[in-house]
Amino acid sequence: MATFKAPKGTYDLIPPVSVKYLAVREAISAPLRNSGYGYIETPGFEDVGLFARGVGESTDIVSKEMYAFETKGGDQLALRPEGTASVLRAALEASLHKQGNLPVKLWYSGSYYRYERPQKGRYRHFSQVGAEAIGAEDPALDAELIILADQAYRSLGLRAFRILLNSLGDKECRPVYREALQGFLRGLDLDEETVRRAEINPLRVLDDKRPDVQKQLVGAPVLRDYLCDACKAYHEEVRALITAAGVAFEDDEKLVRGLDYYTRTTFEFVHDGLGSQSAVGGGGRYDGLSEMIGGPALPSVGWALGVDRTVLALEAEGIELDIPAPTAVFAVALGEEARRVLFGKVTELRKAGVAADFSFGGKGLKGAMKDANRSGARFAVVAGERDLAEGLVQLKDMESGEQSPVALTELVDAVRARLA
Ligand code: HAM
Repeated sequence: MATFKAPKGTYDLIPPVSVKYLAVREAISAPLRNSGYGYIETPGFEDVGLFARGVGESTDIVSKEMYAFETKGGDQLALRPEGTASVLRAALEASLHKQGNLPVKLWYSGSYYRYERPQKGRYRHFSQVGAEAIGAEDPALDAELIILADQAYRSLGLRAFRILLNSLGDKECRPVYREALQGFLRGLDLDEETVRRAEINPLRVLDDKRPDVQKQLVGAPVLRDYLCDACKAYHEEVRALITAAGVAFEDDEKLVRGLDYYTRTTFEFVHDGLGSQSAVGGGGRYDGLSEMIGGPALPSVGWALGVDRTVLALEAEGIELDIPAPTAVFAVALGEEARRVLFGKVTELRKAGVAADFSFGGKGLKGAMKDANRSGARFAVVAGERDLAEGLVQLKDMESGEQSPVALTELVDAVRARLA
C-alpha cells in the first residue's frame, strides 16, 4: 500500500527537536505576558473577504498564496495566511475596544498557511507568535512592541539579528508620494508585470531584487522626503524611545512590507545567518485596517515573529537552549509484583510534581536500563522481588552511576530531596 507523507512545504515537529519550538514560543510570549498582553485564539480559517480586504487584493499573499476554498455549505473561506486581520476581527466582534481602556493588547501563537514556493525557511505551513495593540496612536506603543521583540530574541541568546525601521507615512502624505513615485516609474524601461505592479502598488517595485531594476531605481523619489510633519514627528519619537531603551536599529527607507495595511511605523527583524529567507519577524502600525474591515477608526500596531525561522536562527548561531530533561526519574521493575508496586510509585511521584516514567512492555533489566538512559532521567529506580521483600528499592544516580537502597515508603521524599 502507498504510504503517506507530510504535504509539500510542510514538516512535522517530532521529539526531541519539538521541545525547541515550545521553548521558542515560550520565550517570545514571555515578555508579552509580562507587559499586559492577554492571550487570544482565533479559528484557523476565516471568511476569505477578511483577508482580501484586510491584507490587500493586490498582495502576493492574497492573490497567489491563499488557501481559499468553498465549503459544502457554500461559504467562501480561507486558511489564515496571517494573524492581524483575524485578531482585529475578533476584537471588533467581541467589542473589546468598548469594554475598557485602550489599547486592547493581545498576543497569539499558532499555525499559518501560505501557498509559497517551498525552500529552507519558507514553508506552506508555519507558525508565528504575534502581538497586536489595538486602538491607540502613541509612539510609545510602537516602541514597546519593538523593545519586547528585541528582548524575546535576546532571551533566546540570539545576537546576529538586525532591526530595520521605516515609516510609510499616512493617508495624508503617502498618496502624494505614491503619485510622485508612479510618475518616476512610468519613465523607466520595465517588463509588463512590473509596469502593472507600478500602477497597483508602486512601493512594492522598490522591493524588486533584480539588479537591472535596482539600477533604474537610482534617483527614485524617497518616501522620507514626502512625510508630513505629523508623520515625521511621530517617527522621530519612536526612534528616540527605542534608542533610549538601548535597542539598536537601522533606518531602512526601502523597507516595504508584503501586506497592504501598514501606515507609519514599519519594521522587520532580519537574521544574517539565514540566507534569502532572512526575515525572522516583522510588523508595524495599521491605523486604517479596522475601517477597511468595517469597524470604527482604531489606530493599532503589532508584529509577528516566525517560530520556524527563529529556530533556524538559533541553529545558525549554534545556540543550544537550556532545556531540562523531560524525565527526572525512570522506574525499572523486575517481575510482576515489582511492576505493580513501582507503577504505583510512579503515579505518586508524578502527583508530587516529579517528572517520572516507567519501563513498559515487560523488558528485562538490560533493555529497561537502556530506556532509562535514553530518557535522560537523572535517577533510575530499580526493584526486583528480593528488594521489595525487604521493603527497598535501588536508587541509581544516572550521572555518577552510584546506587543506594532506599526504603519504599521514603522513595518520593528521597527523590525530591536529591533533585532539589
Ligand atoms: P509577515 O512579515 O508576513 O507579517 O510574517 C511574519 C513572520 O512570519 C516572517 O517574518 C517570517 O518569520 C514568518 N513567515 C512568514 N511567511 C512564512 C513562510 N512561508 N514560512 C516560514 N515563515 C514564514 C505578518 O504576518 C503580519 N501579520 C505581522 C504583523 C502583526 N503586522 C502587524 N501585526
